Amino acid sequence: MTELKWWQKAVFYQIYPRSFADGNGDGIGDFAGMIAKLDYLQDLGVDALWLSPHFPSPQFDVGYDVADYVGVEPEYGTLDEFKRFLDGAHARGMRVVLDLVLNHTSDQHSWFKESRRSRTDPKRDWYVWRPAASGTDGPPNNWQSAFGGSAWELDPTTGEYYYHFFFKEQPDLNWRNPEVKQALWDATRFWLDLGVDGYRLDAIGTIYEAPEMPNHSVTEDLSAVRRTLSPYSGASEADRATARQIYENLFEHQHDRPEVHDLMKELRRVIDEYNDRVLIGETDDVTFYGTGDDELHLNFNFPLINTNHLTPAWIRDNQTERLGLLPDGAWPCNTLGNHDRSRFLTQFGRNDPIQDAGLARVWLALMLTLKGTPFLYNGEEIGMTDWLLTDLADFRDNVGVWLAGRVAAETALSPAEIVHLAATNSRDRCRTPMQWTAGPNAGFSPEGVRTWLPVNPNAGDGVNVATQQADGHSLLSFYKRMLRFRRSTPALIAGDYEAMLPDHADVLAFVRRSAADAQACLVVLNISEKPQTLALGAVAEAATCLFSTGHVEGAVDTLADLALAPFEVYVGSVPA
Ligand code: NOJ
Repeated sequence: MTELKWWQKAVFYQIYPRSFADGNGDGIGDFAGMIAKLDYLQDLGVDALWLSPHFPSPQFDVGYDVADYVGVEPEYGTLDEFKRFLDGAHARGMRVVLDLVLNHTSDQHSWFKESRRSRTDPKRDWYVWRPAASGTDGPPNNWQSAFGGSAWELDPTTGEYYYHFFFKEQPDLNWRNPEVKQALWDATRFWLDLGVDGYRLDAIGTIYEAPEMPNHSVTEDLSAVRRTLSPYSGASEADRATARQIYENLFEHQHDRPEVHDLMKELRRVIDEYNDRVLIGETDDVTFYGTGDDELHLNFNFPLINTNHLTPAWIRDNQTERLGLLPDGAWPCNTLGNHDRSRFLTQFGRNDPIQDAGLARVWLALMLTLKGTPFLYNGEEIGMTDWLLTDLADFRDNVGVWLAGRVAAETALSPAEIVHLAATNSRDRCRTPMQWTAGPNAGFSPEGVRTWLPVNPNAGDGVNVATQQADGHSLLSFYKRMLRFRRSTPALIAGDYEAMLPDHADVLAFVRRSAADAQACLVVLNISEKPQTLALGAVAEAATCLFSTGHVEGAVDTLADLALAPFEVYVGSVPA
């Protein structure tokens, strides 16, 4: 195969540690649980694991509020257990990347506790402190927090405000202070020295703010914008696009400053002190690729999923635009979801079990055949869907709690309606425990234990690992089969992307051609419940079927009138 880096060939799988596997029976996922599932992950056929934060944390934002960058959250286990997990993954041929939260710490981090002690504390300048706006007691400017309310919190001890892009429990670090850099680069090296394979970089665009901190001219209400953007809102694509633009404007001076690129180059140099590690930005901004090899290796193609209608036209347009934007040498990176979004089967499903069974296979095929590194999210391999909480007391995502409060204050909705609206926006919807069996607590925790978030009851209806492992036709079996197929098909990993059938309403077709591997694959995905007959003679006279949910593998198919079953996935070999 063409010489590629491991992270260009790998399929990544995101583990949300709190929800993956509970090894000690306390209702919370942990390293003992993750270690016990390493064989499962190897058998699934993924190549790399991304762990959401596993560091000590008060869990106000489920670990994205770090209280110690070089430790392990005691609820998850010990550093020794972490090392066993890492070694176990490596022994099975899987890489491990961690989540590096650079923009902010927890307010319980010792650095912040020191910083807030006095205006002259040596750690004062490690965070972003400002006096009240001149002539007032109010915040320094009108900036909002992305998680609601003002981005400024008055600290009574010293009478100054500190800045927080996210919750007030997540004060922003002051990256203009060289001591901050040093401390975080030390922490970065700590895990690299232990052997981790790289980092996913949290909220990387939010590191710097405009130094003069001007007021924003847009003052729209964030909770309304958030509600419009929810996949449940019923808003039109046009209204969504407007809401996204308002969201951008609301935070204009608070992110994506040019100086962040110098910082990323510096971080890249730290990473490059080590052999073959990777940096993945939680951003869709292609400028984070730098020149193509001097900033981040991968940045997510989030625009692909900023829609409720993942149609062939949407995907084609996205690919043309995205691949066109990448600098030379940059490698694409696609995902259909993560711990912040609706589960893809909910967002892009049709609320019909038969159609969704077909769609789930089409969406995996999309991830594994588009050009770029795919990221899967734990649970999607068994078809997990959003679960909407009905009791506010069960909410663990504080974004949902905040929204419930805002909706209660702003509307005349009933308590049940308020909880429903908040649940559709709360990220708890996609964070429920992994469903391992059809038994009590879905086999995540022992019977009778209260799990940290309720288990989705559809575990009892076949949406669980054990049932699907025993069924050769299950979604899980399909994931395993297709992951193996991709691994052994160089054109799907290294090949160029060439769109076919540019105007087809229901079918996505493209060719992945790798001259170096002397291989070309025609990929055809029927994203519809209707059978199709396609005129693909322009690609070649015939294709040899390599992988399909409708055709016989190994048979030769005429392309002038290729017939596809509803939701069929077809990959055929054509002359290179
Ligand atoms: C992005 C993470 O994915 C999200 O879960 C978190 O709340 C924010 N960054 C803040 O760290």
